[in-house]
Amino acid sequence: MTALIELRDIRKSFGPVEVLKGVDMEVHPGRVSALVGDNGAGKSTLIKGLAGAQSYDSGEVFFDGQPVTLSSPHDAAALGIEVVYQDLALCENLDIVQNMFLGREEMHQRMLNGPEMERHAAATLASLSVRTIKSVRQKVSLLSGGQRQTVAIARSVLQKARVVILDEPTAALGVVQTEQVLELVRRLADSGVGVLIISHNLADVFAVADHINVLYLGQMVASLEAAKTNRDEVVGYITGTKIRDQLLEEPAL
Ligand SMILES: Nc1ncnc2c1ncn2[C@@H]1O[C@H](COP(=O)(O)OP(=O)(O)OP(=O)(O)O)[C@@H](O)[C@H]1O
Ligand SMILES: [Mg+2]
Repeated sequence: MTALIELRDIRKSFGPVEVLKGVDMEVHPGRVSALVGDNGAGKSTLIKGLAGAQSYDSGEVFFDGQPVTLSSPHDAAALGIEVVYQDLALCENLDIVQNMFLGREEMHQRMLNGPEMERHAAATLASLSVRTIKSVRQKVSLLSGGQRQTVAIARSVLQKARVVILDEPTAALGVVQTEQVLELVRRLADSGVGVLIISHNLADVFAVADHINVLYLGQMVASLEAAKTNRDEVVGYITGTKIRDQLLEEPAL
């Protein structure tokens, strides 16, 4: 199966500091891929390149098997790559419908088509089986963290995203809300979207991911099927102990 996104030998430095040292990674349709790694491993830097927010120094990006350049957020959006950032970038003073269509409002005879947008927003939430939101005309400032995360994810669905990248979507959430957001992430993948989720919470990762990629100091040190690995192994890669063990096991020349 062709990967939706394939990264090959991605490199990025800030001055003398090499932050990404030749990273390979794939995102597949219908699958949840996790990207894990310690603070400063380079996860956000890798994601910013995919979002078109910051360019890589070198390396190749393939979308649907075709080489692409992502030099602006517009390039990424045109391909159907949507990023849900941790701070979400929702507007507090606007309601759910307005937020879901922000910057991409549906026009009808050069007027904003309110009823149409409202129907579309409600249908999108319903298609994702979102039950915790009572009215799409509710202001975002009145929503809980989990509900906001839900709106942000639904927004990407409404924009017909083919790849959704989530940076720490459950970091600020309680137990029940976390569960609901993870269920939503799963449904998103089940609808055929390729999902890439960054998380420090390995319980969340194992609950939702099909595949786990581990970055360690800018290198992709492991790419594992979730069903064939376990928490200890992943922690070993995140902390680097697993890599040191492997180096020690290698026969001396
Ligand atoms: N604009 C920048 N200028 C200089 N250094 C940067 C810049 N952005 C990131 N870095 C450095 O690159 C490294 C990787 O940062 P990055 O934010 O990608 O890590 P991360 O894996 O997302 O970490 P966290 O889990 O803490 O979010 C860090 O050492 C960071 O200081
Ligand atoms: Mg980060």
